[in-house]
Amino acid sequence: MFTLSALAFALSGFFCVQVAFGAPIPHKRDTSPYYVVYNDEAATPPDPQDIEGFNIFNLAFLLSSGDGSNVAGKWEQLSDSDRQSTLQQYEQAGIQVMVSAFGGEDAPTTKGLNATTVADSMAQWVIQYGVHGVDVDYEDFDAFGDGSGPGADWVIAFTKALRQQLPQGKYLISHAPIAPWFKKDGGPYLKVHEEVGDLIDWYNVQFYNQGSAYTTCETLITKMNDENPALMEIVANGIPIEKLVIGKPTTKGDAGNGYMSPTELAECLAQAKQQYGYESGVMTWQYHTDGSTLAWIKDVLGGTSSSSSSKRQLVKRKLVRRLSPW
Ligand SMILES: *[C@@H]1O[C@H](CO)[C@@H](O)[C@H](O)[C@H]1NC(C)=O
Repeated sequence: MFTLSALAFALSGFFCVQVAFGAPIPHKRDTSPYYVVYNDEAATPPDPQDIEGFNIFNLAFLLSSGDGSNVAGKWEQLSDSDRQSTLQQYEQAGIQVMVSAFGGEDAPTTKGLNATTVADSMAQWVIQYGVHGVDVDYEDFDAFGDGSGPGADWVIAFTKALRQQLPQGKYLISHAPIAPWFKKDGGPYLKVHEEVGDLIDWYNVQFYNQGSAYTTCETLITKMNDENPALMEIVANGIPIEKLVIGKPTTKGDAGNGYMSPTELAECLAQAKQQYGYESGVMTWQYHTDGSTLAWIKDVLGGTSSSSSSKRQLVKRKLVRRLSPW
């Protein structure tokens, strides 16, 4: 994903021992639909009502270097009680917090890092800082190369090691590949899925930054081309439809291209639901403090049902019921 590297918060690596604050966070929800947003902008976690409609909130990014000068680092820097109360508020609103690993400016394989070692330290971070799991936004393009590079094996080893520390049923693991990585001819994520797909709860698929691809319902959902498979072409390539969450930029400025207005996207999602039973959810890059992301999800959800707000309330009630012991 496009990252704004300019964000720099001074951080110390110091952490507090977790203070018991009521019961431990009840992990986790592992069925779609997932409504996913990435936060690479807000240093302080937004109030739950500012991200109402989403149920997965990704902190961007946990870097392989350990550099904490971003939102994930800022989460680390919160006092333990602030972190706990944020988690509880989100939990009550049906929102789970995950940390997104790597992002567009990290290239762990090319840097020669050991997948197991990186996975172990990231899993430790997850446990230490109380989040519900990891989104693997691996974008080491050079390591994938033309498909024969070491990238896929690295991602497979990483995912296995991560899952060992963060067991299914307790923690979530998503991945955030670009759509072309699922192409039939040598798409590296087809190999990843074959080897460790059962360890991955879902894919936040980036359907953007591919030139003119994915800007109509047809090219997004049904048919694009071999290089840039549409949703149902990815399904045909062997990925279960319920694991594919369609990702789109929130505003035009959030990606190089591939933007679609939220109302158009809502229309595409409604069509996909009607034609293919698609109900996996939607992902957006990225959270903005100016309210544009909240408006985006309202429009997207608004178009997927005749009564948007009652549907949102229903989704929320279901989530709260499933998540909260109180
Ligand atoms: C990575 O580290 C693990 C654990 O120390 C080791 O078993 C493994 O061989 C290493 N992998 C590579 C590719 O060096």
